[in-house]
Amino acid sequence: MALLERGVWYDLARKTEWSPSYISVDELFPPELSGGDGIPDEAWSSYDEPYKVSYREYVDVQRQKDAGAYSVKAALERVDLYNKADPGWVNILKEHYAAVALVEYGASFQEARFARWSKAPGMRNMATFGMLDEIRHAQLQLYFPHEYVNKDRQFDWSHETMFTDNWVALGARHFFDDVLMTRDAVATSIFANFAFETGFTNLQFIGLSGDAAKAGDYTFSKLIQSIQSDEARHAQLGTPLLQMLIEHGQAKKAQYYIDVAFWRSYRLFTILSGIPMDYYVPLDVRESSFKEFMQEWIVTQFIKSVEDLGLKKPWYWDIFMRDLAEHHHGQHLGTYSWRPTLWWNPAAGVGPEERDWLEEKYPGWNDTFGRVWDVLIDNLANGRADKTVPGTLPMICNVSQLPIVGTPFKSLHDTTLVHEGRKYHFASEVDKWIFQRDPERYKHHKNLIDRFLGGDIQPADLGGVLEYMGIGVVSAGGDDAHGYAWVDRYRDAPVPAR
Ligand SMILES: [Fe+2]
Ligand SMILES: [Fe+2]
Repeated sequence: MALLERGVWYDLARKTEWSPSYISVDELFPPELSGGDGIPDEAWSSYDEPYKVSYREYVDVQRQKDAGAYSVKAALERVDLYNKADPGWVNILKEHYAAVALVEYGASFQEARFARWSKAPGMRNMATFGMLDEIRHAQLQLYFPHEYVNKDRQFDWSHETMFTDNWVALGARHFFDDVLMTRDAVATSIFANFAFETGFTNLQFIGLSGDAAKAGDYTFSKLIQSIQSDEARHAQLGTPLLQMLIEHGQAKKAQYYIDVAFWRSYRLFTILSGIPMDYYVPLDVRESSFKEFMQEWIVTQFIKSVEDLGLKKPWYWDIFMRDLAEHHHGQHLGTYSWRPTLWWNPAAGVGPEERDWLEEKYPGWNDTFGRVWDVLIDNLANGRADKTVPGTLPMICNVSQLPIVGTPFKSLHDTTLVHEGRKYHFASEVDKWIFQRDPERYKHHKNLIDRFLGGDIQPADLGGVLEYMGIGVVSAGGDDAHGYAWVDRYRDAPVPAR
């Protein structure tokens, strides 16, 4: 049978649409699921996705991508990266797979929701491919860590994490439920495709890919490049929606979506990308600092795409720029201190040369974060490791669900609010603003401390908390990635008193 040229049929196919006659448009596309309030029905056919592909082309390209990633994995399995790579790198893999694999599966639901509920036919078509992309990403990132499970049961968390109440999982789930699952199709696409994917997945996937190749982990490098090539395509789903909102006088709403999504994404990525990039990646293969990556991918590229649309930087830009050099250092101190609550083994990353690097990239690091590390190091070097793990739990932000941290001797960002008789804590003014703009959305959620104080966690001690988080079921909680070998450098030459 003769095949028609793509150009002859594609536009007709991608915009296939019909007028419902048995039910109303609102029944077919319920406003709470479809969104687009105030945009006339006839406008949706003008949605023009920047990336066009047919199903035949899609399958062909995806098959090649999969073949590339799986064959690199098969070829390099004998290299025994697990035993040869620096433990800091191995633990980046553990953190990454666990935090990402099942979220990718969740993202396939997000895309599926567009395929059903979006009022724009072109978007429904492209979201179908996006849904297949995300299923591929989940499968890859469950399969790849599986080879490590028999070497190290902490890799089991690649599958397990999102089913647990580990504190990192609570933070990630709260964020992804907010941006992927519980908003209408227009808002979700701007939150997830535009703000989260074009902004932040680049950071994790391109940023870590360079470090992976330098660390000799070509399998991981190839894997995340393969995934990012899909992200770069379906991330574009949100831009035409932003244009439609702006054209129909809803620029304020568009700006609000971006402002919320940007901050929430950023704060989550301080844990997912910030800590590994500045502390776990072995110093000799570190490509750039987290701040440098953020400046390249977010401050320059993402904000350019926001401004090109005629929108503005988020209102809290000055707070964000300051935060960029501080917050993830506080989260690293926190996660390292509370290492028994992690599913991976954190690298301290504060040997003498690493501290020089941190001081160069973040001037003032030694006089702030460094002084707390001095105490930790002194305790570790003098047989008081027990004093380096806190006996209490941290305050947790009621928006980000992450510990409230600050810069030692400078600032601690706990701000509070009493809403309908309940006291809420926030890690920043921005988190508080997000809550205040939409308290209905956030007010019922209980963070880990709310659960602890409310009696949900029994026994109410560290053992009970660890059990509640799923630690110790199939693998032990975290401990220093290098078995504290780095502390030896400080034993002979104690840290000078400041
Ligand atoms: Fe994905
Ligand atoms: Fe995606």
